[in-house]
Amino acid sequence: MNKDHNFSVFTKLLHLLALFFLILFLSYKVAADGDTPPSLQGIIMPVTTGLLDGETPIVVNKTAAIQLGKALFWDTAVGSDGMACASCHFHAGADARIQNQLSTGAFHKTPTGLTFEKTASGSNGGVNYTLKTSDFPLYQLTDPTNKDSAVLFNTDDVVSSAGVFSRNFNGINPNDTQDNCASVKDKVFHAGTLNTRKVQARQAPSVINAAFNFRNFWDGRANNIFNGVSAFGVRDVKAGIWVMQPDGTTIKQAIRLENASLASQAVAPPLNDSEMSCTQRTFFDVGRKLLVRQPLAAQEVHAEDSVLANLRNKSGIGLNTSYNNLIKAAFASRYWSGKEDFGKPKDAKALPYNHAEANFSFFFGLALQLYQQTLVSDQTPFDTPRIAGTYPQIPQGLNEHQKNGLTVFLNAHCSICHRGPTLSSAAHPDVYNTNNAFASLSLVNRKTINGAFEGKGVAQGIIDEGYFNTSVTPEENDPGLGGTDPFGNPLSFSEQYLKKLLNGSPLIDPIIVNSCDLDNPFLTDYKNNELIDDPYITGNCDDRALYAKIPKVSVLKTELKKTNSGRALVAVKGAFKVPSLRNVELTAPYMHNGSLLTLEQVVDFYFRGGNFKNNAHFATLVFQQPITTEEKADLVAFLKSLTDERVRWERAPFDHPQIVIPHGHGTRPDTKNSKQAEDLFLTIPAVGKNGRDASLGALKAFDSYLEP
Ligand code: HEC
Ligand code: HEC
Repeated sequence: MNKDHNFSVFTKLLHLLALFFLILFLSYKVAADGDTPPSLQGIIMPVTTGLLDGETPIVVNKTAAIQLGKALFWDTAVGSDGMACASCHFHAGADARIQNQLSTGAFHKTPTGLTFEKTASGSNGGVNYTLKTSDFPLYQLTDPTNKDSAVLFNTDDVVSSAGVFSRNFNGINPNDTQDNCASVKDKVFHAGTLNTRKVQARQAPSVINAAFNFRNFWDGRANNIFNGVSAFGVRDVKAGIWVMQPDGTTIKQAIRLENASLASQAVAPPLNDSEMSCTQRTFFDVGRKLLVRQPLAAQEVHAEDSVLANLRNKSGIGLNTSYNNLIKAAFASRYWSGKEDFGKPKDAKALPYNHAEANFSFFFGLALQLYQQTLVSDQTPFDTPRIAGTYPQIPQGLNEHQKNGLTVFLNAHCSICHRGPTLSSAAHPDVYNTNNAFASLSLVNRKTINGAFEGKGVAQGIIDEGYFNTSVTPEENDPGLGGTDPFGNPLSFSEQYLKKLLNGSPLIDPIIVNSCDLDNPFLTDYKNNELIDDPYITGNCDDRALYAKIPKVSVLKTELKKTNSGRALVAVKGAFKVPSLRNVELTAPYMHNGSLLTLEQVVDFYFRGGNFKNNAHFATLVFQQPITTEEKADLVAFLKSLTDERVRWERAPFDHPQIVIPHGHGTRPDTKNSKQAEDLFLTIPAVGKNGRDASLGALKAFDSYLEP
């Protein structure tokens, strides 16, 4: 007995010692998180193996592929009724329209999800509304610095981007960029009997620096792996592209291009019947429509366009080539030279689809990726060399306010989520962990949660790195990363990992999760006898005794029966992608629901501890913190040090062709379609590599476009 007793004292001591080192280690990790994020200059873009490298690359002419991508991004012929990608991403990569930009809380499951509330300024809001300064923030408190003060206004409406009219696809129209479609009365987006353009359910983030994200979209559904056809990577088991074989026959092959989230993303909007397309248009149809066309046929191209100048028509309008030519110049011939038929269009009189049409989604996605990979903004005051001998490091280019603001940013834990050179942990882990020591990419993690302080009894949660529930809205309004793909699979890696722990089933997305790479090992919450050795370890594990342990299935099952899932909490419901903060000065309105107008409103949001208290909120570091008026101003000044002057002035690579964008509606019916409200337009002039001139002036912050 004595011996036993001694032994247990000894093990207790060992445990204490282990705990001591653990705490040391954790505090080291947290301190490391508080480092100044590095400059973006010289950071290597994650590589899509096989795209440009190897013996038989997919893209044989990168310049042509970028020209193709830029033309497609800005061309209003891509959409069924005049929408280009750029229609919603024309202002520092984001949308700055102010009319017809309100959407109902479309994800909201309750009946109010289909109605618009009156706006905070007391106007009726709804379709075609022109936003005012006083409509923001969408959640208003009597005292914006005090989360518990009386709520003045709240809505589940979203400030987002107008897209297409509600119409069913019947076929393309060789003589018109408008597709042949039949109007369908829209339940939500109509003014009286006239349809208005539909508005998206989430705010449009900037495409600038999006190339660094491991996954894209607020809920991460634009998969890291491009399957050539859809946004869903290997989850879409039927996806495949047509490849000509040496014997001249063409066969369908599944492809898996990694680090190609932008390609996965790009193939979504052209068929989306809220963003760019009539309902049920296919990518074959988009190919049929565009291949024969002259790119940007009705849009001015600047004589000094950094990418398109040498293809510019003498008239100054459009390019003197066709999409077909650009695709044939850019892509290896095995993807477009097959002679077979690929099925019949809806219009029975039309010719069968050809090889290039059948693979159009593949070309489209990859060209858009290569173009958007050029949209890197790494010339900001923040990217200047660090002053020698300072900790935390201070970029030389910051003024005094910005320097102080950097300290506030680090002390208030902003940099734990807005970390790495893009100021976002949703970047590819190789981007934000430049000296990555992990065996896996640590896309799934266990984080310290402040919930323990709030009596929830849970100190850790399993999270997808780069996605957090900061309680901007109640989680019922929009599940974010907690949602599923069209095949019913969880979007989140963490939910897939939990399934693996429960029944050994492999993750759907081919990623590796190593318990050794978790910030906080399971041993911090579970007793040793509740754990087993992790059978799924690959590669090194520096401290196996502490880290290489996972909960026993029986223990997990018990946990999952508890409120908030106990210690097995997967904190992804209502979690959204951590946005990059680069050029944030120019990309309001903020958050996934566009609810905040100014950076001052963002700062108030954080320092009062958020708006609501969602279940997964305690997987964040958003809690009440003290801040002085001076510190607030400094923090905002710091956020403005992340603006690249080339973005502000649309200098190369951020220059672009002219684009005319639908912007709200007049009161009359459209002259060509009596079921639709007439469009009003916003004309964005063509800009060359030297950027906007003094007469155009620089891009401004969103709030300066609004009336009070
Ligand atoms: C009608 C407006 C609209 C159009 C047209 C549009 N987008 Fe978007 N874009 C959005 C919205 C809204 C989101 C956010 C959606 C979400 O996350 O669920 C988004 C998200 C993105 C993102 C993800 C950025 C990030 O950080 O997650 C990229 C990249 C992007 N769009 C590029 C494009 C491209 C390329 C096209 C054309 C093929 C396009 N968009 C067309 C509105 C639009
Ligand atoms: C727990 C992780 C986390 C921390 C800590 C955090 N953020 Fe965020 N931040 C996010 C997420 C996630 C979003 C998007 C939330 C949403 O839309 O629902 C966001 C959004 C933002 C935005 C809006 C960007 C846009 O384009 O819409 C700004 C600005 C911002 N954060 C600044 C800060 C500052 C300043 C701090 C420190 C006071 C901070 N963040 C702390 C995760 C975090």
